[in-house]
Amino acid sequence: MPTSASGPRHLGIIMDGNGRWAKKRSLPRTAGHVEGLKALKRVIIEAKEQGIEVVTFYTFSTENWKRSEQEVAYLMHLIVSKLHGELSFYNRHGIRIRARGDLQALPPEVRDAIARTEEATKDNSAITAVIAINYGGRDEICRAVGRALKKSGAQEVSEEEIGQNLDLPDLPVVDMIVRSADEQRLSNFLLWESAYAELAFYEKLWPDWGAEEIKAVCRDYRLRVRKFGGVE
Ligand code: IPE
Ligand code: IPE
Ligand code: MG
Repeated sequence: MPTSASGPRHLGIIMDGNGRWAKKRSLPRTAGHVEGLKALKRVIIEAKEQGIEVVTFYTFSTENWKRSEQEVAYLMHLIVSKLHGELSFYNRHGIRIRARGDLQALPPEVRDAIARTEEATKDNSAITAVIAINYGGRDEICRAVGRALKKSGAQEVSEEEIGQNLDLPDLPVVDMIVRSADEQRLSNFLLWESAYAELAFYEKLWPDWGAEEIKAVCRDYRLRVRKFGGVE
């Protein structure tokens, strides 16, 4: 059976298990999020090595507002500080940062940090890291439909128009979605594009991910036979 000769062009990652990682060590959940960001750096470096063009990291979902005020505030603070504080890392490795999600509803300092980092990295071309923040697949589809209808003035919308009005329509469609920490669900991630994405679930908690895990993801992807409803 023919399998994919190359790795995924666009990989989506549901980074899960930060809280469990911290709990196992009797640390606060926030310590897990700090370690999770270290994993993200290891992963993006290896993704670049593997020739992946885009990695979308599920960073904060539209449902994550349900967490304690303290955890939400900590996550927002961490995101802002890593956007600003890691700029030299992004530029050194040619990483372009982009964001996906309902950014309008984020605190102004988070929106501002995103806009500034997008601008400061826009000429980097080795790999694109997309931060899915205040992101929900259902929300994105609703916003895409709204945009499409507004543009066309029509009462119906085609699949193509929805695709063209997603948050970052110029990116290649996601080829594979992976999730850490042994959970097997999408939790509202990239719902439109997951229609034909390959899915894979791994036991390891997100803070323990690094180059080896990404190598394994690429190996697993190459074994998949993608048919898109057709025949080989
Ligand atoms: C993923 O780890 C990070 C975010 C959702 C922000 P969790 O915080 O969900 O970790 P667990 O699932 O509680 O272990
Ligand atoms: C999904 O993880 C969201 C992110 C990774 C940002 P969650 O931990 O929030 O998902 P559930 O609640 O287990 O489905
Ligand atoms: Mg979780």
